[in-house]
Amino acid sequence: MSRDPWPTGQSSRRDLHRMALALALAPWASACTPAPLRSLSAGPQWQSDPFALGVASGQPQPDSVVLWTRLRMAQADAAHQAQPQTVVCELFADEALRQPLRQWAVQTDASRAHSVHALATGLQPGRSYWYRFVCGSAASPVGRTRTSPALNDKVERLRLALASCQHYEQGYFVAHREMAQRDLDVVLFVGDYIYESSNPKYQVRQHSGGVPTRLDEYRQRHAQYKTDPDLQACHAAHPWVMTWDDHEVVNDYADDEDNKFSDPQAVLRRRAAAYQAYFEHMPLRLGPDAQQPQRMRIHDRMAWGQLADVWTLDCRQYRSHHACPDPNRGGARVVAGCAELQDASRTMLGQAQEAWFSQGLTQSTRRWKLVAQSTQMSSTGVPTPLGRSAFNDGWDGYPLARERLLGTIAQAQLKDVLILGGDVHMNVAANLRVQANDERSPVVASELVTTSVSSRGMSETLAKQIRDNNPDIQHLRSDERGYTLVDVQAAGVSAEFRSTPHPAMPASTLRTQAQWRVNSGVAGLVRG
Ligand SMILES: [Fe+2]
Repeated sequence: MSRDPWPTGQSSRRDLHRMALALALAPWASACTPAPLRSLSAGPQWQSDPFALGVASGQPQPDSVVLWTRLRMAQADAAHQAQPQTVVCELFADEALRQPLRQWAVQTDASRAHSVHALATGLQPGRSYWYRFVCGSAASPVGRTRTSPALNDKVERLRLALASCQHYEQGYFVAHREMAQRDLDVVLFVGDYIYESSNPKYQVRQHSGGVPTRLDEYRQRHAQYKTDPDLQACHAAHPWVMTWDDHEVVNDYADDEDNKFSDPQAVLRRRAAAYQAYFEHMPLRLGPDAQQPQRMRIHDRMAWGQLADVWTLDCRQYRSHHACPDPNRGGARVVAGCAELQDASRTMLGQAQEAWFSQGLTQSTRRWKLVAQSTQMSSTGVPTPLGRSAFNDGWDGYPLARERLLGTIAQAQLKDVLILGGDVHMNVAANLRVQANDERSPVVASELVTTSVSSRGMSETLAKQIRDNNPDIQHLRSDERGYTLVDVQAAGVSAEFRSTPHPAMPASTLRTQAQWRVNSGVAGLVRG
């Protein structure tokens, strides 16, 4: 690949100095020590492409964005594995790479799986940038990213794609192929980016390696997902904003409890390994807490001008253990007659995150309050001889925490709150009341849940039971895979469920399953 001319002399050294300062201020990126300019062209002569895992960007702010890549060392390049490597980030103002803005160097090494998290700062709000990485003889593919608008900007639109649940074995990532082609501001991914487990019944392709429990195994799993060309294209096309769900660690985990009641200390060690590998492979600012490596803060808030606040919540790390679990099996299940559900001390977000979120929500002055979290908030219970059922892994398993959250919205008379979720492998449009399905309890917020990119959904029999017994649910279909387009404007939010019948095969294309809309000032869904 030909290289473009770069600004030289004093200005580029000033840029480098500015970047060095920015990197020093970024909590995790501070470990990426800027290298002196003379080393920019040095580096290995690669036998195979070290950028085979692609590039990504994320967590856009009005003046900054995180740029990511990871060097993959194939067998032929194993000699470089033990060496720290210098990677040069190049930033451009145009897609043709004719207008270079700056270059700077970061160092990486095996302790972080040769991942690179480069914080590009001093950027203009609300505009696109292009970037790539260079290491020795190799250059990465070019990525496009975008900063968020200025905080006081009366921006007209936020176009985002909502996605979750991409089991590599259960389908191809055709949803990402389409998202990559779309004109989007942000991809909002709400969990199950990798799957640790397999289901031999549904395999159109296979994971390499067994179920990961150690750091090297989680790294291998993440790397395999990152080799998918459609996923790479979607990362290269848009900045991502992310949170996680359970499969990034282990199915159905809740804080330090896994689905086999393993020793909590062993669960925390496994979780720390999974979190570290997750961070190493994602365009995120923050890494695991150096003081407490089993902790990693992922919950965050992004402002989109004056149009929207977007929260990304963590529904796994701090939650109470499941109510009424199967004493032999552990993990999630559908329960009925479970008194523990009514324990007010039970929490989905943990006390600190819940307080932070409630305060932010009630103090927000932006029009739309978009709340991205990993699962479904509307109730999916059905009548049983023991009373109404509850899926104890979703918000139905934390009904009083849900009541607190929706009660906060009602009490503060907040308008324009839209909950965005995933996890359940179905498209859902629902109205949210403090008391679910009770017409006397007013609708206080709206919910859109996106179907999975590839993971299989529940049977139509069960889906119909849920629809028939939950009038708050306006739309629920579990038979198709895809993502959801969300177009946020001051007057209203329009959503399109884009999907294909399962399984998603390589040549599949998506169509619009349904369109829903939320009008500003009126909580609840209407047909779009
Ligand atoms: Fe999932």
